[in-house]
Amino acid sequence: MQCNGRGSGDDNERLSRSVELIHEAWWKRGVIYEVYPRSFQDSNGDGIGDLNGVRRRLDYLQWLGIDAIWIAPIYPSPMADFGYDIADYCGIDPLFGTLKEFDELVREAHRRELKIILDYVPNHTSDAHPWFQESRTSHTNHRRDWYIWRDGKPGGGPPNNWVSQFGGSAWTLDPITNQYYLHSFLSQQPDLNWRNPEVREAMFEVLQFWLDRGVDGFRVDVLWLLIKDAAFRDNPPNPMYRPTQPAIDRYLSLYNADQPEIHEVVAQMRAVLDRYSDRVLIGEIYLPFNRLVTYYGENLNGAQLPFNFALIHASWNAQEIARLVAEYENALPSGGWPNWVLGNHDQPRIAERVGESQARIAAMLLLTLRGTPTMYYGDELGLARTAVPPEFIQDLWEKNEPGLGLSRDPWRTPFPWDASINAGFTTGRPWLPLESAYRTKNVKCLRQQYDSLLMLYHRLIQLRKAHRALAVGDALVIGADDNVLVYERGCGEEKFVVALNFSDNDRILRSSNLVDSTLVLSNYMDREGPVSELNLRGNEGVLLRRRFPGRA
Ligand code: GLC
Repeated sequence: MQCNGRGSGDDNERLSRSVELIHEAWWKRGVIYEVYPRSFQDSNGDGIGDLNGVRRRLDYLQWLGIDAIWIAPIYPSPMADFGYDIADYCGIDPLFGTLKEFDELVREAHRRELKIILDYVPNHTSDAHPWFQESRTSHTNHRRDWYIWRDGKPGGGPPNNWVSQFGGSAWTLDPITNQYYLHSFLSQQPDLNWRNPEVREAMFEVLQFWLDRGVDGFRVDVLWLLIKDAAFRDNPPNPMYRPTQPAIDRYLSLYNADQPEIHEVVAQMRAVLDRYSDRVLIGEIYLPFNRLVTYYGENLNGAQLPFNFALIHASWNAQEIARLVAEYENALPSGGWPNWVLGNHDQPRIAERVGESQARIAAMLLLTLRGTPTMYYGDELGLARTAVPPEFIQDLWEKNEPGLGLSRDPWRTPFPWDASINAGFTTGRPWLPLESAYRTKNVKCLRQQYDSLLMLYHRLIQLRKAHRALAVGDALVIGADDNVLVYERGCGEEKFVVALNFSDNDRILRSSNLVDSTLVLSNYMDREGPVSELNLRGNEGVLLRRRFPGRA
């Protein structure tokens, strides 16, 4: 029995459990950090980040304390969707470097005990991929069935009503053969046909290619979309749809997503990873908890970490977060390991969503909840929305559906390293504008301020590393009254209490949980020491350590 459940077992078992924890898998106890490579560090002055840039900044990531770097796509690509349109799964785009440089990055990261997780994009290729180039040539081409081709409706028009994530029909008529191909995203991103065994085989070889190079795992892009309804039925209309929403919300994704046959595919991917030791399969899945948890697979033979995006969409108050935690924990299959994601390259940043003060609460929450945390580069600096003037907008989603504010550029902007010109990101012209406050909001500056958000992240990660109770211990929500969330993390004799004030107002906490407690960390980083009653300031979060009789 291990110390990573919701409740706690009997005392005799506890000691042996904490000894076992040393052997917890890295992806359970570690912190995952997403690097958007175009914007992390440029090393050759072209204004776009690259692999050598990431390698140069490994010292920073090691200092921050994260355990694994997930790198968004770096493969050869026409960059219509900034690398999520892949023309060769087994290469590196010259913008980012070379395979040799990739190998060096892996070697250097591993030397520092940092894991490398790659983005794996199986749902679609680029239309420039040789497979698609062949597939489109004729109805009888041997790769025809590698993609999803259909005749139009008898009276004309696309085969069904499916909508592309980026607006418009999900079908494009290809004049060469006068058939439509399916693209769940841009028309430059044709969907592969995962019902075809040859496609599976070829795509599993891709996994092996990178695993053989030492990659520690994959974040699988849009995993829940891979298999489509065999009959391609129309999706039903969404009764809640409003014209201010993107077109993708017009219909309910009943037949183009989350199909039962997907789980066989996920299990097959997992089986490929399981031929290697200690690798992780992470799924990008936007589904409610009851559906999300099915991606752990039967007998946990699916993804080890189906990404949990609940914090991204949550209403930001203590009761709502308590409800989410309870609902998620209850939905988890026995033995399924939880995870929490605070941000990614597709979503408004946390500091924009909840404001600067609550971004500190969010940091505490992410790094003290039970489950693997995933953070997004720059969130530790408090980056919010960077203004991108209309003439600089890059994201095609915005261009396809103008006026709805759909561009993802404002949270993909260059990482500010210091106060020098272009924030130390590039010697050239950055591909997206820099955060306007970069002269103060940068790594160099914030590392020198003991109470900065960056230092808070650093401290929290160190504490998580130092205490098994925080890394992999049990969790118990105690309450969410008055907009203060209180929960406990415990393992063996070690017990922590976390109290997070989601409001702007002071709150007095009097609780039996505080008796004999020591304040270890406040997100204001200005106090510590013994407490029995606690005055929590507005937007303050604290981490308390329970003392046990006879112990310091
Ligand atoms: C995922 C990626 C997103 C991309 C899309 C299509 O959602 O995170 O950035 O545009 O898939 O690949």
